[in-house]
Formats: sequence, structure tokens, C-alpha cells
Amino acid sequence: MISRRTFLGTSLVALLGEGGYSAFVETQQLQHERIVVPVAGLPSALEGLRIVALTDFHLQPFTQLTFLKKAVAAANALKPDVVVLLGDFVDATLSAMDDLAPLLGTLQAQVEVLAVLGNHDHRKGAGYVEASLKREGITVLRNRGVVLPVGGAEVHFAGTDSLSGQFDLSGALTGCRLGLPSVLLAHEPDVADVVSQDGRVALQLSGHSHGGQVRLPGMEWASLPLGARKYPFGSYQVGKMFLHTSRGLGTTGLPIRFGSPPELTEVLLTGV
Ligand SMILES: [Fe+2]
Repeated sequence: MISRRTFLGTSLVALLGEGGYSAFVETQQLQHERIVVPVAGLPSALEGLRIVALTDFHLQPFTQLTFLKKAVAAANALKPDVVVLLGDFVDATLSAMDDLAPLLGTLQAQVEVLAVLGNHDHRKGAGYVEASLKREGITVLRNRGVVLPVGGAEVHFAGTDSLSGQFDLSGALTGCRLGLPSVLLAHEPDVADVVSQDGRVALQLSGHSHGGQVRLPGMEWASLPLGARKYPFGSYQVGKMFLHTSRGLGTTGLPIRFGSPPELTEVLLTGV
């Protein structure tokens, strides 16, 4: 089977051959996706809880800080209750975190900014990425959860480590009791099949896929990484659980996107 890296390289040649300037432009065309997620038994105090998700930053060499600054500004403009960062902060160099973490420290949430790590973070140095985020006051969830008080009610946010690290769903969901609205952050979306069977998670938020990053007609499958081939982008119902996979912000392998623009995700919870 053709590898993701080989496919991206072949795609660049093909797109350039057709005057693919637009594929470079598309990397800058941030799209705002707004989804409303029904949650059974949601307390009235949590009605309309606004979660903003940012993922797959991949700062340097292809994704630049100037673009990520725009994404952070757009996130702050939405006045989120909770901001969630879904991993892949770095790409080629761990030192990019020295620029990215202070920017992420400017994210403004009414309640909390939370993060999980991605496969690229593990490849370069998960401990350093985690420490950099913590220094900025960001809560990193590696196989654990937190209960957040909101307007007299409570909501549970759990986070698993990447499949490239030590994925531990039961550890992440420790302290999550039935009846407590629960959101799970997991870098790779395809873990949803396992997560949904647990029965305690109402919503899973993921990234990892870049929506394929380069989606050539008839070849959409070729650019999807392991862990994001079943649920590559958009919203899904998985059993009784809702899943949203963001296309993310940055690029890896090549500085292009085609048919998969970068995404800023706004999630609103509503009771049913
Ligand atoms: Fe990524």
C-alpha cells in the first residue's frame, strides 16, 4: 500500500502540475465549524456550554506562528467556556514549543484550557511538550480526568494519551460517574469504537487526520493516517456517543492542503 508520505509527495507534484497554487493558499483558509451536540440529561446550568477545539498545530517548518496567532484570536473571539487542545503541537523540532506554548497561554476560557498529546508530540518529546503547556497554566490530561464546576453544575472532561504513548481509557475515565456529563479528548478518532462501548462518554473530540490534508478525488483514503481511517473528519454517531473529528490547523509532510481546509471547532452542548 502507498505510504502517507509517498502519497503527499506525489500529490504535490500532481497539484503543481495543474497550477496548484491554491493548495498553498488553502493552508491559510481557516474555517469555523459550529456543531450542536445533544447530551441526554444535561443540567440546565450546562445548556449552551461552549467548547472550542484547536488541534494539530504542527508548528514549523510548514505551519507558521502567524497563522496560529489568527486561530488563537478567532478562538478567543468566541468567548469559550472551555478550550480543548487535541495534540500534535510540534512537528520537525521540539524547540517550536518554546514559541507555541506562550501563544497558547493567551487562550482565554471562562472555566479552563485543557490539552492532550498527539503522536508527533511523543515522537519528539512528550515530557517537554507537557511541561511547556503546564507552565502556561494549561491542564494536560494524560489518562486522567477533571470535574469542572460550571454554574452550580458539574461537567467531566477526560483525556487519553495518544496511541503512540500509553493509551489508557479506564485511567482517563476514573472518577467519571454515570449521570455526570462527560467529554473525552483523544488525539486519534478511531478509538471511538472502544470509547463508545464504555457508556459513560457523551462526546469525543479528536483530530489527527488533518481531514486527509490532501484529498484527491478517488484517492481520499491514501492520505489518512492509522487511527483516523474510520472517522476521518466531521461528526459521527458512534453507538450512543457523539464524535467530532477536526481537520486541525497545520500541515505535516508538505505545506499544502487540498479539499481539507484548516478548522476551528466550536461545540455547543444542548440537553435532550
Ligand atoms: Fe497532526
